[in-house]
Amino acid sequence: MDKIHVTGNGPLRGVVRIAGAKNAALPVIAAGLLSPETLSLSNIPAVKDIDTALQLLELLGCSIERDGDKLNIDSSQVHSVRAPYELVKTMRGAILLLGPLVARFGEADVSLPGGCAIGSRPVNEHIAGLEAMGAEINIEGGYIKAKCSRLQGAHFAFDIPSVTATENLMMAASLADGTTVLENAALEPEVEDLGRLLNSMGAKVTGAGTGTVTIEGVAQLHGASHAVPPDRIETGTFLAAAAATRGSISVLDTRPDFLQHVLAKLEAAGAEVEAGDDWIKLDTHGRRCKAVHVSTAPYPAFPTDMQAQFMALNALAEGTATVIENIFENRFMHVAELQRMGAEIELQGHTAIVTGRERLQGAPVMATDLRASACLLIAALAAEGETTIDRVYHLDRGYANIVDKLAELGAIIHRA
Ligand code: EPU
Repeated sequence: MDKIHVTGNGPLRGVVRIAGAKNAALPVIAAGLLSPETLSLSNIPAVKDIDTALQLLELLGCSIERDGDKLNIDSSQVHSVRAPYELVKTMRGAILLLGPLVARFGEADVSLPGGCAIGSRPVNEHIAGLEAMGAEINIEGGYIKAKCSRLQGAHFAFDIPSVTATENLMMAASLADGTTVLENAALEPEVEDLGRLLNSMGAKVTGAGTGTVTIEGVAQLHGASHAVPPDRIETGTFLAAAAATRGSISVLDTRPDFLQHVLAKLEAAGAEVEAGDDWIKLDTHGRRCKAVHVSTAPYPAFPTDMQAQFMALNALAEGTATVIENIFENRFMHVAELQRMGAEIELQGHTAIVTGRERLQGAPVMATDLRASACLLIAALAAEGETTIDRVYHLDRGYANIVDKLAELGAIIHRA
């Protein structure tokens, strides 16, 4: 199994380009099932979760053409509606196939994703929403079996603003009979982007990216071309890495407006941050950052997907700060690994109290999930000596060429 070796050697410096967002690409790929005409996508990131999503579509009978960051999806010959456990268990985003399958083919058979390293992550909102639209849903043998000859528009209010449940229901409602109103919908930019794509396929979606999304169902959707927006979490990860190593980097091909809260926290930590339309420059002027309090919440607040990276930043910063995780109940698996590198972190329920250390020590550590891996990388870049990160397949799920990108910024890093 691959491992990443990092020798901590001080500041990251230089320029890095950001790939398309994994979490924006996954829903628009699933939307490829909504029309028999070809969907052409660009700025698709080269990450494992995308490979898994495409493997799933191929199993269903889709033809996929992939050339660099470009992708054509042809779902005119779909012959199966089954998304098997073997693939779904490796990527929970596969739940996004449920809505499109039942909407276009009247049937879906999607494995329940099962447990996850960051929490129990139920899918009750996805199911309740589709039931409100008239789908008959049974759980049999670990699979969600959904049926409905034609979904009906409905008024549905989420108990919790779930990102993928909002996306699933927007896709399903696009082909439903009548109008659907989703209340307490997720506000994430990825939801707004999906709304844009659906409209370019002929759907009638308004309010995507706000708390109330209205979808007027249409009889059919057509092909479209769409560019996936930049990855705000990859952006934030590089910025946190530069801040933790007392570096200075420019991040290009990004969207500063997607991460205002994260940028404000980096400024509060003492980094100088400048931004244009599609770039961000961060400079610590060689200074150690100050510890900053963060508390995760749905967009536009501080993202749970940046919590682990800020844990690493705080573990190296001056002072004490709390990191509070409010979205997932078990997203602190990286804490024990950071402690093995000498970090001073006390856990009290879903709050971590972090007292920064001038240096951490390199150690063998194990990645437990995607963002936890990014946290360990950041800690390793700023540590004294060598760190070996095991189970890096977690990192491959969501970061395109991260080892090469960090090496370009001056890190001593290799994969073996
Ligand atoms: N929830 C429920 N019932 C549901 C769905 C969600 O109780 O049916 C709860 C969850 O347990 C959680 C909260 O609602 O407490 C929010 O979860 P959400 O459904 O929004 O998460 P998700 O849609 O499964 C997406 C991202 C995650 C990201 C979260 C939160 C994708 C493919 N995944 O997951 O990304 O952490 O939103 O922003 O978009 C990652 O990229 O590392 C990652 C985990």
